[in-house]
Amino acid sequence: MRIQMKILMMACLVLCLISTAYAAQGNAVYYDPPYTKSACYQNQDHGTMVTGVSDTLWDGGRACGRKYKVQCVRGANTAPHPCHDGASVEVEVVDYCRQPCNGVLNLSKDAFAVIADPVAGKVQVEYNPV
Ligand SMILES: *[C@@H]1O[C@H](CO)[C@@H](O)[C@H](O)[C@H]1NC(C)=O
Repeated sequence: MRIQMKILMMACLVLCLISTAYAAQGNAVYYDPPYTKSACYQNQDHGTMVTGVSDTLWDGGRACGRKYKVQCVRGANTAPHPCHDGASVEVEVVDYCRQPCNGVLNLSKDAFAVIADPVAGKVQVEYNPV
């Protein structure tokens, strides 16, 4: 029994390490303020560090209120040097990005501007639940 427990714990540890090494990636776009029109909270102000999510993360609306730490990985088009290297931003899910959503995340312009140049319009990001 004890040995089985240890094996189980080792397996869990390895899986946890692997899952953090391969963080989820996808495209992010952005939208302009005001950010109060939202599928989660009607006309409630949840600040400027907010995002809409597409079906990948929406989870039938259970995504509302979840938080993600987002970083720019690389450009998703020909815009030169779109990423602000080393920058990350924490955003709260407040909206649904319906198809055709151009990304997994539809960030507020304020959040997008922290991690990338808004001129690029769209970038590839890495996102992790907070
Ligand atoms: C991003 O969200 C806004 C606000 O809900 C929406 O108007 C816009 O169409 C979305 N952008 C995309 C690319 O779906």
